[in-house]
Formats: sequence, C-alpha cells, structure tokens
Amino acid sequence: MNPASPAPAQSVSRRLSEKAERFTESVIREMTRLALQYGAINLSQGFPDFPAPAEIKRAAQEAIAADINQYAITWGARSLRNAIAEKLARTQGVSVDPERELTVCCGSTEAMISTMMAIINPGDQVVIFEPFYENYGPDAILSGATPRFVKLRPPDWTFDREELAATFGPSTKAIILNTPNNPTGKVFEREELEYIRDLCVRWNAFAITDEIYEHMIYDGAKHISMASLDGMRPHSVTINALSKTYSVTGWRVGWAIAAPEVTASIRKVHDFLTVGAAAPLQEAGAAALQLPDSYYEQLAQEYTARRDRMLGILTDAGFRCFKPRGAYYIMTDISGFGFPDDVTFAKYLVKEIGVAAVPGSSFYQDAASGRTHVRFTFCKKESTFQAAAERLEKLKARAGVNK
Ligand SMILES: Cc1ncc(COP(=O)(O)O)c(C=O)c1O
Repeated sequence: MNPASPAPAQSVSRRLSEKAERFTESVIREMTRLALQYGAINLSQGFPDFPAPAEIKRAAQEAIAADINQYAITWGARSLRNAIAEKLARTQGVSVDPERELTVCCGSTEAMISTMMAIINPGDQVVIFEPFYENYGPDAILSGATPRFVKLRPPDWTFDREELAATFGPSTKAIILNTPNNPTGKVFEREELEYIRDLCVRWNAFAITDEIYEHMIYDGAKHISMASLDGMRPHSVTINALSKTYSVTGWRVGWAIAAPEVTASIRKVHDFLTVGAAAPLQEAGAAALQLPDSYYEQLAQEYTARRDRMLGILTDAGFRCFKPRGAYYIMTDISGFGFPDDVTFAKYLVKEIGVAAVPGSSFYQDAASGRTHVRFTFCKKESTFQAAAERLEKLKARAGVNK
C-alpha cells in the first residue's frame, strides 16, 4: 500500500478505544452548546450565573500575587487538606487524617474517576441508582466496572429495598450514591443510608458518595454523610468539591476522603492523571472552607427562594414538577405537552421557546425510562428567571393537550 494513501475506514476505527466508543458526549454539555447557538436561556448545566463570594475571589488573587504558582503537593496543598478535615469534623462529626486520608483532585469529577480506577478490577460490579448524574456511566466503563442499576421511583424517588439487596453480591465492589441528588432532588434519609451501609458491610463493598450539594437543602432536610455512620469509615469514599458550595464550578477543585490504604491507591492514580489541582485556587479553597456557618445558612435560604421561584415558573407554564428537597435541579413531567419524547421536547424548547433544559433520558441507561422527564436547574439570578418566565409563557398554549 502506498504509505501516503489514506487508511481504510475500518482500520481507523480500530485505532480508537473501544471503551470510548461505548459512551456518547455529555448531553448536558451539548445542551449548553445548543443554548449558545440558539441564544437560549441556559437552564441545563448546573453552574451559577451570579458572582462567587468576593472574599474567596480575593483569596485567589492574593495567592497568585504571592506567587503560589507552582505545583502544589500532588495530593493537595496542606492548608486546603487541613481546612477540609476541620470542616468535615465540624459539620458531620467525622474526623479524618489530612495526611493519609484525603486527596485533592481536579473537581469531584476527577475525584470520582480516580477513585473508580483505584478500586476496580475486571469483573467488578458497581451499583448505581438511576436516574443518575450522567458521568457515572462513563466512569464505570472507563474504570472497567460493570454497572448495575437500581431505580429511584417518583414521586418521592424511593428505592425498593429488596431490589437493592438482590443487586449486591460477591462481585459488588461499590455503590455510587449522590446525596443530595442530581437530578431528582432527593436527600437520602438516615434509615436508607443505614440500609445501604448494612449491605456494604455484608458484601465488603465501598459506598462512594458524591456529596457536592451538601449545603443545598430545603424544608428542614438534613444532609448525612455516609462516612458518619457507624462502621462505614473503612467502606466509604466521600467525594466533594468547591464547585457548587462556593459557586466556582470553573475552578476545578474537589477531593476524595477514604481510609489510608484506599487513599494511597487514589493518590497514585490522581498523580499520574493530573499531577494536581490549580495551586492558587487550592489556597483560596482553604479560605472558602473557613467561612462561618452563617455563609451556609444564607446559601440554603437563597437557594430555597430560587427553588420556589423556579417551581412557580415551571408550574405556571404547564409542567408537573417533582419538588426537590436538595441540590439545585427540578425534575419535571412533560407528558401534558403532547410531545413524543423528552429529546424532541428539549430540542423544541431550545430552538422555538429559547430555553435550554436537559432531556430526562440522559439520566437513565434505557432512554425509555426518561421519556417523560426534563430537568431544569435553578442556580440562576432573578433576571434569568424573569427572562425564562417570559419565554415559557409561549408554552402554555401547548400545555394540557394530553390531559
Ligand atoms: C452530582 C454531581 N457530581 C459532580 C459534578 C461535577 O462536579 P465538579 O465540578 O466538582 O467536577 C456535578 C456537576 O453538575 C454533579 O451534579
């Protein structure tokens, strides 16, 4: 063959990873691109459109000015690890050794994949509640785990305990749990966590808990960290980040907390994946984590008002809403609008109405389960709500067509 001639299509596809072929690009981030393309109001991806707190922005600027501009310790700047450990002890009563049980990563996204790659062997299964935050599917594929899905059922997003118990077995390496939950807004109750704890202990499995919405809780709901339950320390990996709590999703600073031998494995994977998170932003993170309790109280109050505002707008436009008790999303039922499925509806919404949301099917392994759902985020400022409300007015004409 002439070395200059193009390779046949077949050999091109063999050059690509089979793992990467098994998942698609992120639907959520694609919706953000469509929102930009059509000039739509973006209520799809969960990032605030209001400013981050002034004091932590100042801390980041000061860190750069003080020349904290070189690699931090690969598993995290000591000041940040100490601040994380101190806050976890203060808020959840969990004491961790920041020298041996904590790894700072590039966002909770990297903390999750580093954890998975640090614990998964071929043949291992990972239990995932669905609907799920879409990253967990590719995380399972990339780390080589076989996902086993257990449904959270509306309207309260409860799970069937027997179904969950039957999903665990000798091949179960971990369960991934996100509380407060994206996309449902569920906040797992103590009895539910204890039931999961007992399964993890029985089958010697990990509970990897993504707790990044810990401070977005409403109506008296309480966030309970899995690691705080009796007997869970050796079985838990607690994942969190600056992203949501401090409105800095673009900083990419998160962490994983786990027993020393698990942490040692996570640190190795993390080191060779990314070396470390941005050094000056880690310093600013240390300042953020030292904010007083009043910061978190105010955050929850402000988000309660945003949730109620968004519930009002969506209900008025004809959506049936599942009222969230935590996180900053509202899952809706779109059956009243008469569209064949969620993707058709979301495309209509972004192109014709000018509002971007996420089709429910992207949170399920089988698209059919999410056909009647669309998710909206409410981490937005009042002018965004106002504009969204005006645009969604146009939907009213279509509401009720299926009633
Ligand atoms: C449940 C959940 N986990 C993780 C992430 C990503 O977090 P980070 O920005 O810390 O990587 C998100 C972002 O929306 C999320 O909803």
